[in-house]
Amino acid sequence: MSHAAVIGWPVSQSRSPLIHGHWLKQFDIKGDYGRVAVEPERAEDFFAHFADSGLLGGNVTIPYKETAARAAGYREPVVDRVGAANTLWMENGVLCADNTDGIGFLANLDDRAPGWDRAPAEALVLGAGGAAAAVVDALVDRGFRVRILNRTLSRAEALAGRYPGRASADVLSEANRYAVTAGFLVNTTSLGMKGDGAIDLDLSVVPADAVVTDIVYVPLETPFLASAASRGLRTVDGLGMLLHQAVPGFTRWFGQRPSVTAELRALIEADL
Ligand code: ATR
Repeated sequence: MSHAAVIGWPVSQSRSPLIHGHWLKQFDIKGDYGRVAVEPERAEDFFAHFADSGLLGGNVTIPYKETAARAAGYREPVVDRVGAANTLWMENGVLCADNTDGIGFLANLDDRAPGWDRAPAEALVLGAGGAAAAVVDALVDRGFRVRILNRTLSRAEALAGRYPGRASADVLSEANRYAVTAGFLVNTTSLGMKGDGAIDLDLSVVPADAVVTDIVYVPLETPFLASAASRGLRTVDGLGMLLHQAVPGFTRWFGQRPSVTAELRALIEADL
């Protein structure tokens, strides 16, 4: 019996067990995928002695993505670029780490808005936190020039500084100025989550063929996406990113490559 899990603090809100549970059943694999809540005082020790956990691997969620990346003996290059890991597995006694958030982000857009990257020009990324790091890395990889706008300018500058000539930074309050020429817009801030405030951006100035996405998926249609849709812009919600980022981990742990289907999406949607 193989055990995998999502590791974080807290982990009760994670939908990963639902996703992997669905695939385990589908492939009839004798394995399980649970939740491991690790208290902050124990975190360094937990990842340093991951082999003792009895897990063959797992996902890492808030607040341990950076801790896990540091603890790994092998890191995929993207982990070093982004400074965070979301997928772990053991290989020959060595803890290995990947970050599949960027892959999930791109796969969701490829799936829901085919051609969204046909003429990669300027992408506007709102926010400069942990989630933005993976998104910016993926967009640069796809050939976009990325403008990072954040409430705290220093964070946007630090992130943009990792991609000289490909990314630049400014404050979030300047969003309207840049939106006029943006072909692609993504919200990575926590604004728009249940009960949170909205983003101060006039989407009526955005080019008519722009694609707009949000990595927040609770609610599925954030105020940002609703506003974009009401102006006739193509929108993609954030749920697919969660589903697609799970694929590489499952493949590594259980040896079968699963698909993101309408059935899986409906299952998770019903749980939101
Ligand atoms: P995550 O890992 O989910 O990205 P994070 O690292 O805490 O979480 O980043 C949260 C992002 O939302 C940041 O860009 C943050 O802006 P600051 O860097 O200025 O804190 C942004 N954010 C959160 N609340 C915000 C608010 N009320 N207005 C504008 N931006 C906000």
